[in-house]
Amino acid sequence: MNTPRATRRALLVGSLLLLAGAAQAETSTQDAIAEYREMFGDDNPAELWQSRGEALWHTARGPKQANLTACDLGLGPGVIEGAYAQLPRWFDDTQQVQDLETRLVSCVTTLQGIPREEFLKVKFGDGEKKSELESLTAYVVAASRGKPIALPMQHPAEQAAYALGKAVFSYRAGPHDFACATCHGDAGKRIRLQELPQLTTAAGAREAYTHWPAYRISQGELRTMEWRLQDCFRQQRLPQLKFGSEVAIGLTMFLAKNAEGGTLAAPGIKR
Ligand code: HEC
Repeated sequence: MNTPRATRRALLVGSLLLLAGAAQAETSTQDAIAEYREMFGDDNPAELWQSRGEALWHTARGPKQANLTACDLGLGPGVIEGAYAQLPRWFDDTQQVQDLETRLVSCVTTLQGIPREEFLKVKFGDGEKKSELESLTAYVVAASRGKPIALPMQHPAEQAAYALGKAVFSYRAGPHDFACATCHGDAGKRIRLQELPQLTTAAGAREAYTHWPAYRISQGELRTMEWRLQDCFRQQRLPQLKFGSEVAIGLTMFLAKNAEGGTLAAPGIKR
């Protein structure tokens, strides 16, 4: 690995960490969030997405004029309590390992008859344009608050998804030859003001995973795990992560498994 490329990478990581060092004296992200909490108490604006999601869940819509109360998220039709704590998982009807977001898409398309492309037109909200997927996600996720993450992991396809996610996590690619592990594989790393969680340890993965999806203060939007992952693909200068792809599900499976036993506290609040 003593290529000029590896040297460039080492230099770049080095300078990123130098930048981080310089910033350490200033207010850290953690402090900013603590400050926000002081102003707003424990009120999380994510509740707006939750109640929009709850309304969407119970409203008859689409060509089939059905609501989503027959949606099976893994624990049986209509059961949302604790469902998120066991995702991603294998689903017989779709013959796929699905995360919460892709499962919601399946329910919307099959139960309500709304075409996938139409439903996903706004998959990540943007100011006035709110995303139905983000609202539904917030509603379902909140129903797993306080539950420990416990994945079934019996089906070979679930184990294969985990193995794929694990491999992608340390696969170096892109113009900087970065892997997820470059930024998230060690303790105590930072970029500018942002602390980089070590996602390969149980403690680090739990701290991160149990708070996502989250309301992002800087964006005024609730963001899902698929959003989080595609944003890190962008940080890694990789081609855009395809929504619902095997790589997206695999990475989610890897993170969820590493975080197993952690108690869900999502939707959280992030900078
Ligand atoms: C160039 C560095 C970099 C790379 C590479 C990178 N990330 Fe990140 N990641 C970040 C930063 C910075 C944040 C915090 C962003 C913020 O707060 O806005 C973050 C946040 C996260 C979080 C949320 C953590 C939390 O506690 O909120 C997860 C999960 C995550 N990254 C996963 C990944 C995965 C999976 C990959 C590989 C596909 C990856 N990251 C690649 C820099 C990186």
